[in-house]
Amino acid sequence: MNELLKTLIKLALALGIFWVGVDFASAQTAPAPQRDVQKEALNPSASAPLASPESPKPDALFKQHCAACHGEQRLGAMGPALLPESLERLRRPEALKLIREGRPATQMPAFGGTLSEAEMQALAQLIYQPQTPAPQWATADILASRSFDAHSGDWPARPQWRADPMNLFVVVEGGDHHISLVDGDRFEVIHRFPSRYALHGGPKFSPDGRYVYFGSRDGWISKYDLWNLKMVAEVRAGLNMRNVAVSSDGRWVMAANYLPQNAVLFDAELNPVKTFDTRSPDGKQSSRVSAVYDAAPRRSFVLALKDLAELWEISYDPKAEPIHAGLVHDFRMGEAIATPGYLNPRRTPLDEPLDDFFFDDSYRHALGTARPRGKDEAGATLGQVVNLDARRKVASLPIAGMPHLGSGISFDWQGRRVMASPNLKDGLISVIDLKNWTLIKEIATPGPGFFMRSHAKSRYAWTDAMMGGPEARDTLSIIDKQSLEIVAQVKQPGKTLAHVEFTKDGRYVLASLWEMDGALIVYDATTFKEVKRLPMSKPVGKYNIWNKISREEGTSH
Ligand code: HEC
Repeated sequence: MNELLKTLIKLALALGIFWVGVDFASAQTAPAPQRDVQKEALNPSASAPLASPESPKPDALFKQHCAACHGEQRLGAMGPALLPESLERLRRPEALKLIREGRPATQMPAFGGTLSEAEMQALAQLIYQPQTPAPQWATADILASRSFDAHSGDWPARPQWRADPMNLFVVVEGGDHHISLVDGDRFEVIHRFPSRYALHGGPKFSPDGRYVYFGSRDGWISKYDLWNLKMVAEVRAGLNMRNVAVSSDGRWVMAANYLPQNAVLFDAELNPVKTFDTRSPDGKQSSRVSAVYDAAPRRSFVLALKDLAELWEISYDPKAEPIHAGLVHDFRMGEAIATPGYLNPRRTPLDEPLDDFFFDDSYRHALGTARPRGKDEAGATLGQVVNLDARRKVASLPIAGMPHLGSGISFDWQGRRVMASPNLKDGLISVIDLKNWTLIKEIATPGPGFFMRSHAKSRYAWTDAMMGGPEARDTLSIIDKQSLEIVAQVKQPGKTLAHVEFTKDGRYVLASLWEMDGALIVYDATTFKEVKRLPMSKPVGKYNIWNKISREEGTSH
């Protein structure tokens, strides 16, 4: 680009800022008079006033420089949504650096040469401000966002590649937002394709293992045909989403949203069927939805609410019992006020909201973690057991710190059924008796961890310490499920090693070297020797089809 052109563009941009600023204040819908401004800038006699750098107008700056990719309302377009809910994991100084320097190998440009430091700071401030009024995402928006391949019904009903479709791994590469499909016998990549930005929560599978559903941070649900390697349908369920669940009969998909504060039910072709506004019984308080899981034997979805002390269960069983309003059964009132049990929420009142949870084997209990209420509450008992039939809390779990029950696993130990859970705050694994909810053992690990995995055919459980310091997060600890002792460790010094998943037969463990230039490392599950390594871009998670659809005891659902 020649110098004159550069100068002219800069001038045009500066004018644009000024004009758009005025325009924005008067009518948000009117198009910015950019073209006229550019014409003016090309006219050397027009002496245009530059926008004062002391008073950057963030809204106008955003409209000028960012809206084309991030959307007028910051709801996302080609680039991701930039809302406080979306940016929870991006620290503000990092956001500023990103605006200044861009993100290499992506479409996010560097603005260091275009904008002043004050302007970039104003923008970095702006993107963390909530939109007022809160942005809407109604059924019409959901419908308008949907795409569907009308030919998908004709695609062959068998894998168009040679490998065991049950031992396939779906690997989520968070670094450059791709999915790799890995043959779990030969450990080779069968196919790699781009995903939506920032997938959230694990992908979920149809019961036959043919389709996988991905949920993204920005609310997109993508249904992909693993046998034909093609996208079937996509829909934007919300503006900020936590995860999705697929019903055990494969007919329903439920999305858990932070923004708007609701859960949205879809059919298997991603047509919206029903929206559940997550509100208190009197309708006064609404809540974000932190997670939704399928409770297969109950034929229901169970939802954890972030801001309401309630657990919701939504049955997809057409024969579900009716739901009686009121928390206590009132015999004088009879059973007058009942709503159908099918596709309606059944509330369990709690003392505290639960963040995330684990089902016991019977699916009668949800074991959840309440959020700590303040610093002084450290050491408080956060683990709770909720009986989904009695619809009340029945026990507290004697676990310190912050158990990550959503990653728990269960297994037999000395004739008892137990669960083991990592802990986000302390370097320990808690082993709990699933009959009387007592603590059997705390196993010390190098640092706080996030994931834990095993397999019915392996005597070992593997866990990470990725929430710990540099000396901890490079280590996976291998626990003997009978002695409940750490018997071995594998290390990738100086790196982060996390998230393991077993092959279908339990003979190999796939672990993530959780770096931008990371890898999938295959370990022999009995000798703990490295067998193979496949380069991957920050492989944040991997999911074995068989282990997932058979609800293998050693993996989270
Ligand atoms: C040409 C398109 C484009 C423009 C213009 C653009 N961005 Fe981006 N931006 C992107 C893309 C694409 C990404 C995602 C990059 C990736 O894959 O990691 C992104 C990422 C970001 C992120 C990180 C989001 C996250 O969740 O990590 C921030 C913050 C951001 N942009 C801010 C801005 C701001 C502020 C502006 C205006 C000054 C801007 N962007 C202009 C395309 C754009």
